[in-house]
Amino acid sequence: MLKIGLLLLVLPFYFAPMPSFARAPYALRISCGARDDVHSPPTNTLWYKDFAYTGGVPANATRPSFITPSLDTLRYFPLSEGPENCYYIDRVPHGHYLVRIYFGLVAEPSFDNEPLFDVSIEGTLIYSLPSGWSSHDDEQAFVEGLIFLKDGTASLCFHSTGHGDPAILAIEILQIDNRAYYFGKGYGQGTILRTDRRFSCGAKDPKFGADYSADHWGGDRFWNSLPTFGQSSDQIISTKNNIKKASQAPNFYPEALYQTALISTDTQPDLAYAMEVEPTRNYSLWLHFAEIDSSVTGVGERVFDILINGDIAFRDVDIVSMAGDINTALVLNTTVAVSGRSLTITLHPTIGNHAIINAIELLELVLAESKTLPDEIRALQRLKSTLGLPLRFGWNGDPCVPEQHPWSGVDCQYDRNISKHVIDGLDLDNQGLRGSLPNDISQLHHLQSINLSGNSISGLIPSSLGTINSLETLELNGNSLSGRVPAALGGRLLHGASFNFTDNAGLCGIPGLPPCGPHLSVGAKIGIALGSCVAFLVIVTCLTCWWKRRQNILRAQRIAARDAPYAKARTHFNRDVQMTRHHGHEHSRTAAENGPSLLA
Ligand SMILES: *[C@@H]1O[C@H](CO)[C@@H](O)[C@H](O)[C@H]1NC(C)=O
Ligand SMILES: *[C@@H]1O[C@H](CO)[C@@H](O)[C@H](O)[C@H]1NC(C)=O
Ligand SMILES: *[C@@H]1O[C@H](CO)[C@@H](O)[C@H](O)[C@H]1NC(C)=O
Ligand SMILES: *[C@@H]1O[C@H](CO)[C@@H](O)[C@H](O)[C@H]1NC(C)=O
Ligand SMILES: *[C@@H]1O[C@H](CO)[C@@H](O)[C@H](O)[C@H]1NC(C)=O
Ligand SMILES: *[C@@H]1O[C@H](CO)[C@@H](O)[C@H](O)[C@H]1NC(C)=O
Repeated sequence: MLKIGLLLLVLPFYFAPMPSFARAPYALRISCGARDDVHSPPTNTLWYKDFAYTGGVPANATRPSFITPSLDTLRYFPLSEGPENCYYIDRVPHGHYLVRIYFGLVAEPSFDNEPLFDVSIEGTLIYSLPSGWSSHDDEQAFVEGLIFLKDGTASLCFHSTGHGDPAILAIEILQIDNRAYYFGKGYGQGTILRTDRRFSCGAKDPKFGADYSADHWGGDRFWNSLPTFGQSSDQIISTKNNIKKASQAPNFYPEALYQTALISTDTQPDLAYAMEVEPTRNYSLWLHFAEIDSSVTGVGERVFDILINGDIAFRDVDIVSMAGDINTALVLNTTVAVSGRSLTITLHPTIGNHAIINAIELLELVLAESKTLPDEIRALQRLKSTLGLPLRFGWNGDPCVPEQHPWSGVDCQYDRNISKHVIDGLDLDNQGLRGSLPNDISQLHHLQSINLSGNSISGLIPSSLGTINSLETLELNGNSLSGRVPAALGGRLLHGASFNFTDNAGLCGIPGLPPCGPHLSVGAKIGIALGSCVAFLVIVTCLTCWWKRRQNILRAQRIAARDAPYAKARTHFNRDVQMTRHHGHEHSRTAAENGPSLLA
């Protein structure tokens, strides 16, 4: 009875569709360089103390922009720790995320230059800090990407370009809806959307989603204020009316975004806005409208075309008709391929004399790079530790991507068959490497050439190296390697591979190198040891028997000697003394050295 009662209570909840706001989105915020968790005003946001970094130095920070959260520390990565440094954040649930990285400046006189560096997310280069970023008091102080994270980790890397040490103030990983910013064909895992800019038209102040009490599934976006498109072509209008259909899946825009707008003036019916962009890239453009002008009360009173760089992208837009009512949100999106440095949006009225717009978002469409085969990354990491690779190599992040920043000493190739990068060469000659070659080197199946000449690598050549079938060039000359060269490698030589094993401590076993000493298996060694024991016991037994027999003979001779001539007795005596000495000698050594090893 009780069970059925419980079931009846639970069932309606169980079968009701789960609204996504019922579940809080995953959110992780890190205050880089911080030793303790901190809360930032004005919304008391929690930032975890620093973790998950590959290296670097914590320092006090200067915040370059009013947008930057009020955090006092950062982490910077000196070039001596290598050109690639990362945060690897694990246990991130599979999903769609807004990843935001804030930059900072080290608060020390010796660090007066702004660092310029590249930022990658999951191996894809999404941003190169432009010169002057720290003096623009706007959104330049962070980079933001929308990305699907499917393997439980988020890797964010910073790549030196020779202009100062990358300095990171804070990191945010905020889950958003799985269909957020769905733009049609090409959307998904192969694409990352980098936020270029977001404007709330007619807003007085820039604001984050949190300042608007926006839904957490929106990812706490930053909305800059755009008071005018310029040239006195427009004016601000605003409303206190509620806006319908604003905070909806998948994008959950804040209602306040639609409560202000820019509207064209009587003298200038077209509204036009030009944005500077990077040439030959693809952008996803999102335009927001709500009919908040009280002079428009129904369908057919305001209609306009939307042109992008002169081409009509949307014809006959009637906000009231398309949104369903006045004071109701309408979102339009389109993908734009730009060739020049400018992207101009023009709203051209065809009915009524004014155009209106509430907000603009521009996101760059970045094709995601294919990462390196995970087994090969693990093998390289193992190689890094067993060879004691110097810190200056870095070797953090992905070995092959972003393609602009591969690991130094590693050659890569894209394997179309598996849609992954693979390692086809190692060039680490004359790098002062010590340590030994790990067995896992054989995980690098695609290696064609290895150059480790002129280091101090010692130990054996792992036999697994012989299983790398594609290996054509192997230079191990000038190291301290010893032991037998694996037979499989010797065999490869006959097929035209070019191997160099000269100048090592003692390699042997292939043509051109000295022959190896007798090579014994473990079984053979045990056999020899056992055989030696048996032989020793046999000899000891024989000697004991012989000695006893001589004693008997001696005793018999002593009895007989009473009647024998003097000279004969003396001869026998000498011989017996020698025999006894020899026997006693053997016995003492056996006791001291524990037997068989003496004979083995
Ligand atoms: C950061 O500043 C505080 C004082 O505000 C000082 O005590 C601390 O030593 C500084 N840390 C570093 C790494 O310079
Ligand atoms: C964006 O536009 C595409 C094609 O015009 C449309 O299919 C898609 O639903 C739009 N996305 C959103 C989130 O409205
Ligand atoms: C832009 O999109 C077009 C068409 O989808 C594609 O052919 C082109 O490679 C894209 N360009 C860039 C830079 O992503
Ligand atoms: C891809 O597969 C084809 C045949 O299956 C093979 O010939 C080719 O070498 C492979 N490519 C790579 C890069 O492994
Ligand atoms: C390996 O490195 C040595 C020393 O730098 C160089 O002389 C040799 O040409 C390299 N071999 C290959 C195959 O690149
Ligand atoms: C092997 O390396 C040594 C230097 O250690 C060099 O003198 C020799 O010419 C190389 N042999 C071949 C066949 O390249």
